[in-house]
Amino acid sequence: MTKNIIQHNYSISKEDRNKKNQHQSLVVWFTGLSGSGKSTMANRLEKRLFREGISTYSLDGDNIRSGLNKGLGFSREDRHENNRRIAEVAKLFVDAGIVTVAAFISPLEEDREQAKDIIGKENFVEVFVNTPLEVCEERDVKGFYEKARKGEIKNFTGISSPYEPPENPDFEIKTVEESAEEAIERLYQFLQQKLKL
Ligand code: PPS
Repeated sequence: MTKNIIQHNYSISKEDRNKKNQHQSLVVWFTGLSGSGKSTMANRLEKRLFREGISTYSLDGDNIRSGLNKGLGFSREDRHENNRRIAEVAKLFVDAGIVTVAAFISPLEEDREQAKDIIGKENFVEVFVNTPLEVCEERDVKGFYEKARKGEIKNFTGISSPYEPPENPDFEIKTVEESAEEAIERLYQFLQQKLKL
């Protein structure tokens, strides 16, 4: 309940911060299956942006779930709350003048749309890390797919919990067709326009 809450108006605006940083702030939101390469791509993108002098910060599933969102699981409701809180945090970073690189499975269109609404569509870039389930399962970097197939992990995305691929992502990376270097260079070029003041 937001009873007896009166919002405070800050005297330094997002525009002031963007002007100081000499770039726009926005959220680059990576979505994709577990093991699709989201974190790798996000990490590479952040390094690329940082190298150019851009103020950046990363938000990643495993890290956020061990702090801010500790206690949330993988039910439909918990994922929804997980994605909602992340979007609220990312919105604060946008206000702070930072380019936020977020990497979350965020499996449902509805939850990604909610994130876009919270952050503001003009500040939101959706990147679909499109790696087929068979490939993620074959790689099985964390051994989670094997466990999910055996029923040892419940509600596992792609196995026992849905993943809805974005229909109209702003940017798509097909990791089986292109190297991480190529993909990130392409993404960086795509973002350049949006980062300009
Ligand atoms: S979500 O769907 O957006 O709320 O998920 P996210 O916060 O990105 O967390 C995904 C990471 O949690 C680990 N993990 C699981 N993923 C999917 N389903 C189930 N049941 C599950 N249990 C644990 C897993 O390490 C995910 O990390 P990535 O980097 O995606 O592999």
